[in-house]
Amino acid sequence: MTHTAAATPLTARRSGPLRGSLRVPGDKSISHRALILGALAVGETTVTGLLEGEDVLRTADAMRALGARVERLGVGEWRVHGVGIGAFADPPAPLDFGNAGTGVRLTMGAVAGSPVTAVFDGDASLRKRPMGRILDPLLLMGAKVRDMAEGNRLPLTLQGARDPAPIEYRTPVASAQIKSAVLLAGLAAPGETTVIESEASRDHTERMLRHFGAEVTVTPEGTHGRRIVLKGQPELEPAPLAVPADPSSAAFPLVAALLVPGSEVILQGVMLNPLRTGLLTTLAEMGAAIETLDRREEGGEEVADLRVRAGALKGVDVPAERAPSMIDEYPILAVAAAFAEGETRMRGLKELRVKESDRLAAVAAGLAANGVTCEIEGDDLIVQGGVRAPGGGVVETHMDHRIAMSFLVLGLASEKPVTIDDSAFIATSFPDFTGLMRGLGAELT
Ligand code: S3P
Repeated sequence: MTHTAAATPLTARRSGPLRGSLRVPGDKSISHRALILGALAVGETTVTGLLEGEDVLRTADAMRALGARVERLGVGEWRVHGVGIGAFADPPAPLDFGNAGTGVRLTMGAVAGSPVTAVFDGDASLRKRPMGRILDPLLLMGAKVRDMAEGNRLPLTLQGARDPAPIEYRTPVASAQIKSAVLLAGLAAPGETTVIESEASRDHTERMLRHFGAEVTVTPEGTHGRRIVLKGQPELEPAPLAVPADPSSAAFPLVAALLVPGSEVILQGVMLNPLRTGLLTTLAEMGAAIETLDRREEGGEEVADLRVRAGALKGVDVPAERAPSMIDEYPILAVAAAFAEGETRMRGLKELRVKESDRLAAVAAGLAANGVTCEIEGDDLIVQGGVRAPGGGVVETHMDHRIAMSFLVLGLASEKPVTIDDSAFIATSFPDFTGLMRGLGAELT
């Protein structure tokens, strides 16, 4: 997606009770990984429930350009004919990842283990994001950067290694993208590739590698960390994948149902991977009424239906260690905090500055534009809540889907309407957000 198309503003108004039951689209992290690992396995991988958002479609295109056959069979139903580890082909044109940080960074890892040269690019938002954190370990493994925009930014040309070396790498920040890039490159290396993280980040790559038959061992490291060891050059066997509903997308209707008085909403089959449930933990501490129904397993992950009822919330102190398990949920948590009694302090949010936008700045500006008192203190965000946020502002979304959806949720419960300057980027992760929310009774025009 380019940002040259005219912006499409959207306004959210205070709505009557939200009611209904819905399933949000497939998990974005798992969907990217399904396509990439499918392309690295030899033979046919079938995927159901794939997120058909812009970000994931860009990864599908990239896998095609690298030689895999990727077909859409029906809604969310895809088939990938993989080429095998280290067997990518030179892509005929630059790989354009649009807005997708996960797509570009994980694909760099996969390309680093193949003797090919690829140009990686993205939209204006992705071109601002740091790539050095991914390139550092990949260069140690033998990949080479042939050309790159200033400041370790896209566009860049990466030449994969013919014989990648296994490494032991300690990630400088808790990042599943860095960890995954190293593991994907490590597939082509002989011996053991090790990633050490001082705070555990989402483990979908490790789980899926095992699902495809690779040997991955995970042991605790320090208080909150992990040591992940991958045995290189496995034979990846295609295995069917079912993508569970994305908890990061479920977060928007979930918080909307908490904030709009009288609401009761059921969210079906939401993934409850323990490294993704920080928001649920925090909302429970705030006093939210969320019931977990019918816990079961889907696609190797625990899922459940969540019944959410509106009710009063109180401010809390969110510890920095919780950040990796709710890293994408701070914008919507900040919106919930605006309606909670007292102060909410969210600690240790440095990483939010390098997401699809500078989310720390974008959240603070959006709240301020809507009459909510908030402050950034170092890497902490502090929000002063009230029973009902004033609203009435226009929010700059900065090409960021989660900023867009978060402030629309604010507008569903605030005194005055809230307008976002551009709703187009919602399609990167949650294409039918507006339709599903309207189906619950949300006033979005
Ligand atoms: C993701 C990891 C996180 C997250 C992103 C998805 C992934 O990024 O913010 O939306 O799928 O691995 P970092 O690894 O940079 O924290």
